[in-house]
Amino acid sequence: MKINIAIDGPSAAGKSTIARLCASLLNYSHLDTGAMYRCVGYQSKIEGIAEDDEEALAEMIQRMKIDFDAEGHVYINQEDVTSKIRDNEMSMRASNVSKLAKVRESLVALQKEIAKNKGYILDGRDIGTVVLPDAELKVFLVASVEARAKRRILEYQEKGIVFDEQEVIEDIKRRDYQDSHRENSPLKKANDAYTLDTSDMSIEEVKQWFIDKLKEMGVYH
Ligand code: DC
Repeated sequence: MKINIAIDGPSAAGKSTIARLCASLLNYSHLDTGAMYRCVGYQSKIEGIAEDDEEALAEMIQRMKIDFDAEGHVYINQEDVTSKIRDNEMSMRASNVSKLAKVRESLVALQKEIAKNKGYILDGRDIGTVVLPDAELKVFLVASVEARAKRRILEYQEKGIVFDEQEVIEDIKRRDYQDSHRENSPLKKANDAYTLDTSDMSIEEVKQWFIDKLKEMGVYH
């Protein structure tokens, strides 16, 4: 029996990393919903559409094709934008466009459609509350700002992305605030989600927590 797994939490809490690991463990598919908001932020910049022009953004999404491949590469209309959507500017742009109801409606509809047959792990901000309220396993990942900044910096170093350390910390704090205070589907733990604080956990320990939970549920042997 396949289930759906919802992983939510603030930026740089390790959601995508653990979602990818669980997906390969279970042979499930992973959908990084944050990447979809980043694509909207990126494409709107290319097309010169303002971050608050709700109608134009909704119309743009209808014309846009977002694809993922098995290695986690992201494509907009077949252009590989994997690294282009990852810098601080695109993080903030994604957070800004994600405030708009019509943008959320369009992307949430796509996400629900993709995951309707089970066997999916979605990570984001509103997966357990809005996108997959019936997911069998919901986890709310949290970590201190310091721990998250350290991880983001490592990720940028590995990917060769240029960064300013102070800006990384400010970006995390700004997005924490904005993503949890917006009117439409703010970042919020679902009532039936487990909270996991990964500040002092290694990725191996987080993985083990998921393995134990999945064994308990009879989904992994
Ligand atoms: O997970 P991320 O940092 O790549 O997400 C980028 C932004 O997209 C984030 O700041 C808020 C928004 N987002 C959202 O509103 N809902 C989601 N399910 C995923 C991301």
